[in-house]
Amino acid sequence: MNDTTISNPLDKLPEILKRDLDEYLCSCNCVVKMDIIEAIANGATTLDAVKRQTYAADGNGCCSRQVEELIEHICAP
Ligand code: FES
Repeated sequence: MNDTTISNPLDKLPEILKRDLDEYLCSCNCVVKMDIIEAIANGATTLDAVKRQTYAADGNGCCSRQVEELIEHICAP
């Protein structure tokens, strides 16, 4: 499941989710959105995997839904 790299993750996102790529999606842990997108594209296809790799949504998890939304789009067939 984690052995596939998605080479064009931005192409899978709707325009609204392509904004603010270099700003914090996870402001609790200072993780920029593009780092999360790259982690997903490189195989972190679950919320837990994204947490482990980037620390986004770790802790109180207030951005979990936004991270899940990125996963859903990027991992969609
Ligand atoms: S903004 Fe990511 S855990 Fe709060």
